Amino acid sequence: MSASEATRLPVVVIGAGAMGGAWLRMLADSPHAEPVGVVDLNLELAQATVASAGLDAVVGDSLVEVAERSGARAAINVTVPQAHRVVNEQALRAGLPVLCEKPLAPTVSEALRQVALADLTGELLMVSQSRRYFNHLAAFKQAVEQLGPLGAVHATFFHEDHEPGFREQMAHPLLVDMSVHHFDMLRYLSADEPVSVRCNSWNPPWSWFAGDAAATATFELASGARFVYSGSRCTPGLQSSWNADWHVYAERGAASWNGDELVIADAEGVGFEVPDRRESIEGSLEEFVSALATGITPQNEVRLNVLTLAMVEGAVLSSARGGERVDLRDLLEDSLAQAIADEQRDDVAELLRSWPSAADGISTQPWGSSPAPIAAGGAR
Ligand SMILES: NC(=O)c1ccc[n+]([C@@H]2O[C@H](COP(=O)([O-])OP(=O)(O)OC[C@H]3O[C@@H](n4cnc5c(N)ncnc54)[C@H](O)[C@@H]3O)[C@@H](O)[C@H]2O)c1
Repeated sequence: MSASEATRLPVVVIGAGAMGGAWLRMLADSPHAEPVGVVDLNLELAQATVASAGLDAVVGDSLVEVAERSGARAAINVTVPQAHRVVNEQALRAGLPVLCEKPLAPTVSEALRQVALADLTGELLMVSQSRRYFNHLAAFKQAVEQLGPLGAVHATFFHEDHEPGFREQMAHPLLVDMSVHHFDMLRYLSADEPVSVRCNSWNPPWSWFAGDAAATATFELASGARFVYSGSRCTPGLQSSWNADWHVYAERGAASWNGDELVIADAEGVGFEVPDRRESIEGSLEEFVSALATGITPQNEVRLNVLTLAMVEGAVLSSARGGERVDLRDLLEDSLAQAIADEQRDDVAELLRSWPSAADGISTQPWGSSPAPIAAGGAR
């Protein structure tokens, strides 16, 4: 065994579907973590996925059992969004820190219950918002930070996605499954947090999705600037990047990023460098493993991710109300009341009831010692 193999974190991957397979193939060669166990309700699928990734991992349908047998010391949750909270709870209560695929949960109230649960167990729960980890996004962020106060940020996402499965059945395949990435990227680009949203969503007549595959949303940011978003998952032609196409207009000029490798700054004296770091899920894995080693709070530690989910749920709610303005602070407080009403575990419910407000609950010191410094040119 080489030195790097000896220090790889042994992990159990839960969910061996399309994305679970992508995680396992990446982990097979990762210097940071070793996939020692794989869990899925569908055992045959889990075995086939493990074999096709060329792995020798313990396979089963019980997370606790597979974790024990394999010696896993952390969990990576790649199940469907509806299962995220239950699986995260099993892992955290078994003493395993968790890296969970986006979206953390279908609702903000379920996310708040997980904030409380993570606090109770003292284990790290981090959301893998993998689209934060793109080198050209880091370069774009450098440019944006030199432009001064924001006026407006525009992001457009137009794609033709054929991914049969839960996405094609959900009520909001764009907002809940895809825009969650772009909304999170807005929060990565600027500390100017969203406070309200107006949104309309619809399903084009030719759509192969059951739910709304298209939407427009305008968020008001704390400074008064606007984030203007439009997207669709069923647009054949003129495809944008998976990362969306971005334009920022600010006091000292403008900048754009096509979501791939083209960053443009139209402002005097604004420069940037493209870093050379691991991207996508490799980047989020690296930050997770590093957080466990150093105790530094990672981006998207569970409570830091709640506002990203509030953007999604606020947009869904606004659309259901015919485009009415939804205040994200009100949404957070309503979600806390819902979380307390739904929570079955006494210890979690008691902690939720002790919060003076949802805003307080998510602003207390997160797991770890200090927020990760965001280095110039870096993804963190
Ligand atoms: N970061 C990205 O770019 C990206 C891309 C695709 C998918 N995802 C996310 O990854 C997750 C999985 O997506 P997918 O496309 O692989 O879905 P999928 O339906 O292909 O696979 C999900 C798997 O989870 C298993 N599962 C469900 N509930 C379970 C439970 N309680 N315990 C164990 N296994 C369970 C299912 O049997 C299935 O095999 C979703 O949250 C999705 O949003 C992220």
